[in-house]
Amino acid sequence: MKRTIVAMPGDGIGKTVLPEAIRVMNAAGFEADYIHGDIGWDFWCSEGNALPQRTIELLEKYKIGLFGAITSKPKEAADRELLPELQGKGKVYFSPIVGLRQHFNLDICIRPCQSFIGNPLNFIRRSSDGKSFDEPKVNSVIFRQNTEGLYAGVEWTNPPADVRAAMETHPKMKAFKHVLSPDMAISTRIVSREGCRRIIRAAFEYARKFGYSNVTVCEKPNVLRETSGMMWAEAKIIAKEYPGISLWDTNIDAQMMWLTKNPETYGVIVAENMFGDIISDAFAGLIGGLGFACSANLGDEVAVFEPTHGSAPKYQELSPSIVNPIAMIMSACMMLDHIGETEKADKIRAATAAVIAEGKVRTYDMLKLKGGPDVFDKGACTTQEMTDAIIAKL
Ligand code: NAI
Ligand code: MG
Repeated sequence: MKRTIVAMPGDGIGKTVLPEAIRVMNAAGFEADYIHGDIGWDFWCSEGNALPQRTIELLEKYKIGLFGAITSKPKEAADRELLPELQGKGKVYFSPIVGLRQHFNLDICIRPCQSFIGNPLNFIRRSSDGKSFDEPKVNSVIFRQNTEGLYAGVEWTNPPADVRAAMETHPKMKAFKHVLSPDMAISTRIVSREGCRRIIRAAFEYARKFGYSNVTVCEKPNVLRETSGMMWAEAKIIAKEYPGISLWDTNIDAQMMWLTKNPETYGVIVAENMFGDIISDAFAGLIGGLGFACSANLGDEVAVFEPTHGSAPKYQELSPSIVNPIAMIMSACMMLDHIGETEKADKIRAATAAVIAEGKVRTYDMLKLKGGPDVFDKGACTTQEMTDAIIAKL
């Protein structure tokens, strides 16, 4: 039976890279119908809603989404760019991808960071004798709690009186007693035991399935005693069910340092929303950066797959396009894995690895060039040429 995939290119380079991933999947023999889903800045401006109800309904029906990237802009720009007839009606911009994650409870975010052999952007470090360099093989998979924590959206500038009063029941609020409410901003970090359990269990299950020997909880329970504390407490309980897998804990700040000392030590990493966001970008930097960073957002029913990069507005007008489609293509592979098409996903990953190892075709980022229309003169390939090279290897 042919699959139906909701394709949501979004904004900027999302519109460029998503069709490239579909081209590769077609070439690998994956047959599907792709139904377009509206999402992103254009729909905020024209409808006052970056995530139209019709897109939510498509995902309710078809369950699987492939997403490019969206553009988010600060409050003032969001208000200014709204159609004049929609302005002043109390419309509030909210990131549609965060909205999607919350609407469908896509609480499990998986971000694999695995280096490709021959990628000139791979992390290297000086060897212990100081005379040469090591290139550790990075093979870490970040499990980011995707719906709660600091990104849950429970925040205020000028908190209402009852919120303020509730906060003041905490002794530590004494330090802010003199701050007037209009001069106060609050972002909360709320985690639930259930949310912690689900992400930790998903991390351990993944470690077991793919043979990782350790799961690291990357939090800060010494300071964030309640929220990080709950994550760590639940991890210790769940870890007992996985006797062959070591449970480690690192503080987020220390982990950022360990990253460039011994990244090869870490297998599966699990963290709250914000910390997961940070650590996954940091790990992505070791394997080539945003052009290589892919992700899955999984709920019990719906799943959405996306590169972790944004819409890169500064490159969206360049024609031909210079951006690297590999992050999007690897995200499509995660989608194929999810729907049981692992063989095709493996074929695409192998073809991509072969192109990278050969080193003849490289996008501007792989050549460490500053992005711009002149990168082709300096040896960079176009987005489409990278896709063509991968398809040729298939
Ligand atoms: P960005 O990810 O768009 O760009 C960061 C840097 O990485 C830029 O220098 C960009 O050129 C480069 N880059 C990104 N994707 C690349 C690719 N495929 N190949 C080569 N280079 C690539 O993040 P930035 O600039 O912070 O944000 C731009 C817009 O994207 C903002 O409106 C932001 O809100 C949005 N954004 C959306 C995300 C999403 O849709 N999930 C995630 C991150 C940002
Ligand atoms: Mg991020």
